[in-house]
Amino acid sequence: MITPTYARLTQKSDLTSVCLTVMHVRKLVWIVVEDSDTRTYLVAKLLARCKVSSVHLNVVTPDYYKHDKWKPRGVLQRNAGLSWIRDHHSIDNCSGVVYFGDDDNSYDLRVFEEMKETKGVSVWPVAFSGGVKIEGPLCKDGVIDKWHSGWGSERPFPIDMAGFAIHLCLLMRNPKVLIGRDRQNRLSKPGYLESNLLEQLVDKDLLECRGPPDEAIVWHVKTAEPDIPREHNDPSDPLDIEWEKEYDKKAS
Ligand code: UGA
Ligand code: MN
Repeated sequence: MITPTYARLTQKSDLTSVCLTVMHVRKLVWIVVEDSDTRTYLVAKLLARCKVSSVHLNVVTPDYYKHDKWKPRGVLQRNAGLSWIRDHHSIDNCSGVVYFGDDDNSYDLRVFEEMKETKGVSVWPVAFSGGVKIEGPLCKDGVIDKWHSGWGSERPFPIDMAGFAIHLCLLMRNPKVLIGRDRQNRLSKPGYLESNLLEQLVDKDLLECRGPPDEAIVWHVKTAEPDIPREHNDPSDPLDIEWEKEYDKKAS
């Protein structure tokens, strides 16, 4: 599971929740990629405490990466995760499934059970995404009955990033495919990250529809920004100190 993450007040709380979930998943490797110049102490310590096998990477999203006033979130970080995975596997050693799990969603353990059987690309709907209660493919007897979304039904795959998983061999057979570009190698338009990735990997008819027919097993939520108006910016604030510690510098 590849998780992009960036510094904010709720980062540690969000990552702690994800840790507590993935700790229950057998054989999961948690690849956490920080959107920062260095790997931070905060994330390094959290991963050391978290009882799951993990990989800690970083790559910063530069400001020029913004386009159409839209700054793609988590793109370079997911690609760094994909490169790490490809570097550590081969076409003859590619058993496994890749999942993009953002640091702010909440996950039922069943989503990890469902994705285990993935042959190519498996899909399920995601709650509270796309402006509707549940967005993505609605399955009946294991096949896609219809798609539901609040916008962009013209997208080739109207689905959130948390609504699919990809077999590793498919990624190894398509070594150039990354997130954030379309088939013509143009930058993805806002909201097209998922579609641009999937259209390079799979035919819509071949998607494997999974998950219970009548409930969500992953929720696109966001922790509210804490309301702390009485806090004054104090350079000795322990939280700030924790953030400022750079793990890489400390290690070297
Ligand atoms: C929605 C989708 O759920 C994302 O998977 C998709 O990347 C994003 O839209 C998009 O199309 O850009 P949303 O919930 O609105 O995402 O965005 P965030 O949860 O704020 O960010 C997605 C991931 O990127 C998170 O894991 C977050 O920690 C990370 N991120 C966000 C960064 O690494 N850097 C940032 O500056 C912001
Ligand atoms: Mn999110």
